[in-house]
Amino acid sequence: MLTVGVLASGRGSNFQSIIDNIKSGYINAKIAVLITDNPKAYAIERARNNNIETLVLIPKNFPDRDSYYRHLADELKKRGVELVILAGFMRVVGKPLIDAFREKIMNIHPALLPSFPGLHGQRQALDYGVKIAGCTVHFVDEGVDTGPIIIQSAVPAYEDDTEDTLSERILKEEHGIFPLAVKLFAEGRIKVKGRKVFIESQREEAVITNPPHQKFSR
Ligand code: GRF
Repeated sequence: MLTVGVLASGRGSNFQSIIDNIKSGYINAKIAVLITDNPKAYAIERARNNNIETLVLIPKNFPDRDSYYRHLADELKKRGVELVILAGFMRVVGKPLIDAFREKIMNIHPALLPSFPGLHGQRQALDYGVKIAGCTVHFVDEGVDTGPIIIQSAVPAYEDDTEDTLSERILKEEHGIFPLAVKLFAEGRIKVKGRKVFIESQREEAVITNPPHQKFSR
């Protein structure tokens, strides 16, 4: 069974979607630890409700950025973590952690990458005037939201959308494709070649169009 570690900074609804999909048997994995950089993160409550160990590790308590991420990598390795999930972790991950978990760190981003990386992807998309928005699960590399794309899902962006209404529509998709990506990883069905990700599955499952994850049995 795959051992997962989760990093989250805030509300943790994506963390919850992973928890729920493990509980339902959709994902064959266990969550070894939640690590947060924010002592007020609601994600901590979610971990407590589900008996998941939590570490609150704050960067300013470490001498520098590299030692913070080296420490995170050590804590994850110590617990046998094989996949690291960034579920709203609001920091650019440092190299020591990336090196320790190459192509084993997944992030969810609320835009169709490579458009609108960085903060406020939904607001960037609205301000740009796109008609189709969405979200992306990708592996994490040294850049900001630049790693190999695993799954994307699209939603319409309406003319009367606000940041909140669009974010809500995107979030529903996030809660579908992030668990799906973790499930595929847990089943050993994800291969990375260069910056391309190949998913071993039926062709219709591999080609992710909106909203394919609903076809997967839960
Ligand atoms: C989500 O919009 C995710 O795409 C982004 O941060 C937000 C986290 O939300 N990376 P939550 O904490 O999972 O509810």
